[in-house]
Formats: sequence, C-alpha cells, structure tokens
Amino acid sequence: MSEITKFLLRDNQIPSSWINVLPLLPKPMEPPLHPGTRQPLSPDDLRPIFPDSLIEQEFSPKREIDIPGEVLDIYRLWRPTPLFRAYRLERALDTPAHIYYKYEGTSPAGSHKPNTAIAQAWYNKQAGIRRLATETGAGQWGSALALACNLFGMECTVYMVKVSYQQKPYRRIMMNAWGAQVFASPSEKTQSGRDVLAEFPDSPGSLGIAISEAVEDAAGSRDTNYSLGSVLNHVMLHQTVIGQEAQEQMRLAGEEPDVVIGCFGGGSNFGGIALPYVEQKLKGSGPRLLAVEPAACPTLTKGVFAYDFGDVAKLTPLIKMFTLGHDFVPPGIHAGGLRYHGASPLASHLLELGAIEAQSYRQLPVFEAALQFARIEGILPAPESAHAIRAAVDEAIAAREEGKTRNILFCLSGHGNFDLTSYENYMEGKLHDYELPAQEISRAIAALP
Ligand SMILES: Cc1ncc(COP(=O)(O)O)c(C=O)c1O
Repeated sequence: MSEITKFLLRDNQIPSSWINVLPLLPKPMEPPLHPGTRQPLSPDDLRPIFPDSLIEQEFSPKREIDIPGEVLDIYRLWRPTPLFRAYRLERALDTPAHIYYKYEGTSPAGSHKPNTAIAQAWYNKQAGIRRLATETGAGQWGSALALACNLFGMECTVYMVKVSYQQKPYRRIMMNAWGAQVFASPSEKTQSGRDVLAEFPDSPGSLGIAISEAVEDAAGSRDTNYSLGSVLNHVMLHQTVIGQEAQEQMRLAGEEPDVVIGCFGGGSNFGGIALPYVEQKLKGSGPRLLAVEPAACPTLTKGVFAYDFGDVAKLTPLIKMFTLGHDFVPPGIHAGGLRYHGASPLASHLLELGAIEAQSYRQLPVFEAALQFARIEGILPAPESAHAIRAAVDEAIAAREEGKTRNILFCLSGHGNFDLTSYENYMEGKLHDYELPAQEISRAIAALP
C-alpha cells in the first residue's frame, strides 16, 4: 500500500464540544485577583469587558461545553484541518521516529487563532455587543478577530504592536480588508498609549502595552467588549478542537503519540493540541506534553510562578502564572506572536504540577528548522510555529541517536506567508541569536506586585 500522507476527517467529524480540563485538576488553580482590592475576582468585575457566557466558561466546572451550531457552521469553512505524516522529513533526518503534524494554517487567517475568534465574536454578538477591541503582536490574532467580526457583522478595533505594524504591512492590510480599524501601539488613542509615548517616544510597543490600550478602549464604551487571543481559560478551551481532531486522526494512522509539541506564546495552540491528552497524563500515562518558547522571551523556562498583571498599565486582573514581569518589553525577535511576558495560568499550573514540560530555543536554530521544513515538506511555517518544528526535529534526531522509534506529534499553528521579511533577514544573515540576560530577567521580576 502506498504511504498515507494526509489523515483527513469529514465535515461531520468536527468535534461537537470543547474539552474543559478545569474539573480534572488534582489541585485547583489559584483564583485571579482584582487589580485594586487584591481580592478574588467576581464575575461582576469582568462584566465591563466580557459577556456572561465567556465569564462562565472561564470558571466552568463542566467537563465538556457544546459548540454552538453557528460557530460549527463557520468552523466548517476550513475544519477539520489535516494531519500530515512527514515522511519526507523523516527520511531526510534518517530517523526511525514517526513525525506527524496537525496543520492549522488552512484557516482563512492562516493560523489556529480563528478557532477562538469565531467563538468569542459569536458569544459577544449574542450579548448585544457591536464592536470588539483587541491587541495583536504578529497580526495573526488581529486578522483572526477581524475575520470573525466581519462574518458576524460586528466592528473590530485592533491595537497592533508598533514593531510588527511596521514590519508587517500585509497583515494590517488583511485586517483592513476584513473591515477592521488598526492602530500602531503605543497609540495616541488611549491614555495608556499616551503615557508610554510620553516616557518612551520611540517605544517599539509590546503585547503588554497593546493589551492595556484595548482593555481601556473596551472598558470605556458600553457597546464594546475586549477579546483576548490567548492566555485565558476560555481561549484554551476553544482551541481544544485541534487536539480532539488530532486524536481521531492518530487513531486513523493506528498510532499514539509519545510526545506532543506546540510553540508557546500565551499558550493557546499548545493548549489546543495538548489539553485533550491531559486527563491521561494526570492519571500517570499518556504522551509527554512539550511547550516550546523563544530564548529571547523565556517565560516558562526562566520566569517565576507568581501573581502578576497581564498588561503594562495594570488594568487586568492579577493572575498566578509564569511571568517575566508585566513591564518586561521583549526584544524585537521576529516571532512576534511569542513575545509575551506572561503565560496561560492553566498551562502554568500544569507546568507546576509536572504534567507538561517546557523548552526554549534561540531564533537561528529555529529559522534553520523552518527552512529545512519548507524545503522538504513544502509549507513555509510561521516563525512562531517553527519553534515546534525545531523541537520535533530534535526529538527525531534523539530517536535516531538512541536507535529507538518514537511517535512525534506537533501543531503547525500557522503559515509564514506574511513573514517573508523575517525569512529574507535570516537568509541574508541579518538575524542574530539573542538570549535574554539573567540580569534583565531579575530586573523585570523585581518589579512584580
Ligand atoms: C502562528 C502562531 N502560532 C503561535 C502563536 C502563539 O500564540 P499561542 O501561544 O496563543 O498559540 C501565535 C501568536 O500570534 C501565532 O501567530
């Protein structure tokens, strides 16, 4: 029989519910705290920026949450996404390992982000909200939310980290094409933006600053809510369609993964592929679950597990998470979507419990793996996703060196077709490795509340 390269599901095999791991945790997560009173947050505290349905999901004790029919109708435009067996890469690496990747770049916006954007826009629309405000780093999340708002007839305002706004005009144009308004952050539109500009007129921006601007914008208008593309429990929840489909597709392939890998910015694509395996893991079996982050922004591997703000202006609740400090402005490495000082509190909790692992890579080996993948498998990956490829390649090489087979599953969270400047810089030898100095980390952590 010829080799099966793509494991495909039918439209009616899109999962009908999202998997919630909160009720499975052996020890509950610490509650988020109100930024002013420092008391556990009540749902009322979140009402100025989120609809009740998403607040309920954030704390839900239910094991599964039904996916609304209208959300499924839109998921069907690109879901189920394909699972590939990377035979060509295996041969090139001369490894006995079997490498599988779940490709989320087939969505209209080019990444996994629409899985939650569509859901969030729908719940907000049901709650009578007319406009959503958000931040974006690389532009993947902003374009996903622009797409979602457009499909539900809502307005969308995006604060885009200035360095990405300048490096990635095509992502901005894509957001404009779907009807969104995009501002380079820090901007003059909000007090948070003006405060940063007054102190640092040349600030390249950061996700922490852009979040402050979007939250301030949403909290200031009754018909506008805020939408976050990662980190929060309900975002992790919506992404579990990825791992559920992958589990079904691995069954078609007749194999179980030994290791499941995702790149890690705020945690949502990693959560998407890994969370459906957490129940098994917490029972003491199941695959290793590996989150991969840049050495330039090493939140999980060098940060501290502490209460911190999600943004620079301290407008968000205090969240117990791995963090490099809320005033940390990460260097402008090209994987813009992985430049966040904090991390999903759920993923942080799982790391603390030992249920998941984390690893960091410098950007040159990441781009090397990205180009190797593009030349062998064809797809030019997003620089964020390339972190997962680097780890998968290293796992495959380790399998070869140990002379043992190993099933590797990773999430290829998006394509890099709008990241060509980064590729050009890499190919022209203009990118440099950067690892955050310990001193810089200690300074940022010293500013923790
Ligand atoms: C393609 C891609 N992968 C991964 C990420 C990281 O985000 P998360 O950790 O939420 O998956 C981003 C963020 O923008 C992204 O664009």
